[in-house]
Amino acid sequence: MTAKQSLLSKLPPDLDRHRLPKHVAVIMDGNGRWANRQGLARIMGHGQGADSLKDLLRCCQDWGIPALTAYAFSTENWQRPLEEVEFLMTLIERVLRRELAQMQEENVKIRFVGDLSQLPLSLQEEIERSMRETQDNRGVQFTVATNYGGRQEILQACRAIAAQVKQGKIDVDGIDEQLFEKQLYTAGIPHPDLLIRTSGEMRISNFLLWQMAYAEIYVTNTTWPDFTREDFHQALIAYQQRDRRFGKI
Ligand code: FPP
Repeated sequence: MTAKQSLLSKLPPDLDRHRLPKHVAVIMDGNGRWANRQGLARIMGHGQGADSLKDLLRCCQDWGIPALTAYAFSTENWQRPLEEVEFLMTLIERVLRRELAQMQEENVKIRFVGDLSQLPLSLQEEIERSMRETQDNRGVQFTVATNYGGRQEILQACRAIAAQVKQGKIDVDGIDEQLFEKQLYTAGIPHPDLLIRTSGEMRISNFLLWQMAYAEIYVTNTTWPDFTREDFHQALIAYQQRDRRFGKI
């Protein structure tokens, strides 16, 4: 931790602890651009990005934010060069293996969402293990979206519900938001209150399309590997200045 970050080990006094988001989602963009700027290969940006994520998770624990979701790999990311895809898969597996004991100690509950069946087997095993070993933890709920696509998630929910209708288990009129949510990968996880996207891009990029209906969106020009607690602090200040009306006046 840098000296600047250690100053922020406690919730900054200009934030109201009663109005913090209960769930923060993050699109960790700009790893490649960060690496290019340093004259490094793109993949080095992802390695550095994993460190930023680790600190954000710890910051959520320190500041009392109960849930964090990170977009680690989208269904579209398979179209990247094979070397980069393989690096990302290995990185996620390596970080899990290396950090699981520490996360366990800090009471983090890990969950992976997405079509996990397409991931390398060794990664699937590590994911299974991390979810199983942390399932009873009551600290920060840390969700990692991997081979995740919001449209695909909605489609698979529709298919599951259609199958139940066909089998006569539910009635078409019985399909409501609650029933639908139970079929999403994120069943049981509250919706994000705040989405942070780094590196200036103003898109949702197929991330948590259903769940993000009323999320506040905060975009910063900082590239993800450079994202610090101070950047998070600024995002939370902006969040607390928003007037969340949920369609009401
Ligand atoms: C987007 O930046 C970033 C990704 C597609 C990968 C993010 C993944 C990590 C940081 C690893 C997370 C690790 C764990 C253990 C969950 P980009 O490559 O699109 O950046 P660019 O827009 O500058 O090219």
